[in-house]
Amino acid sequence: MSAPEINPIEATYRRLKAAGKDLLKLYSGNPNEQGIHFPGEILQASYSRYFEKQDYFPHPKGLKVARQAISDYYAGQKAEVDPENILLTSGTSESFFYLFSLLTQAGDNVLVPKPAYPLFDSIAELAKIELRHYALREDLAWSIDFADLEAKRDSRSRAVLLVSPNNPTGAVSDLEEISTLVDWANSHDLPLICDEVFSEFFFGEGAFPRPMALTKPKLCFTLNGLSKMLALPGLKLSWIAVTG
Ligand SMILES: Cc1ncc(COP(=O)(O)O)c(C=O)c1O
Repeated sequence: MSAPEINPIEATYRRLKAAGKDLLKLYSGNPNEQGIHFPGEILQASYSRYFEKQDYFPHPKGLKVARQAISDYYAGQKAEVDPENILLTSGTSESFFYLFSLLTQAGDNVLVPKPAYPLFDSIAELAKIELRHYALREDLAWSIDFADLEAKRDSRSRAVLLVSPNNPTGAVSDLEEISTLVDWANSHDLPLICDEVFSEFFFGEGAFPRPMALTKPKLCFTLNGLSKMLALPGLKLSWIAVTG
């Protein structure tokens, strides 16, 4: 079996690092790599509780108390989502695979920002769909190029993806950009997929601006998980919150 392929950005990083360059890994999505760790004693306490009781309450959408906790998290940020409309997954990458599979047939496309997290391409390949990359404007703080977004849409477009805070640009969509995007998506009956995995790394004023709290998308899938939120990339607990 041949070795797994490394994406070109990581390959370049490794080459330059091996040549002795001092580099900042701005595209790194792993908080642990940046020295951010979840307190081990809290993890230990929850593990011990599990091993004492070994409770097992299976549910196709995921443990009910966990879905309620996620709903409460959003309620604390003025965003309403019924726990019945939350699905637990084993990582946001898996959430993407579910959504691409749910919303598309082979040959359909999903509109995604460029630059973007490289794994989207592999997930799309697995789901046998095309990703259409709409431009983010570097000259305008990496905001959405709406003319390009419209140019990339066609009759086979099935969803539009917003990544905010964005990896790798770090840009956060403000209310104006979110409203323009949601109006545009609603006018074309396109569901919105909001990748908010870096929401806890928002250092702006006020609450983190999220489409499901600030606007009324016709159909909105908000993705998040413990990987970045609690700096637990190995724990693999994520969710899809469905609103609209
Ligand atoms: C923008 C973005 N979305 C999704 C993911 C995947 O997250 P998870 O670890 O929950 O699969 C990453 C991981 O780095 C990411 O950068």
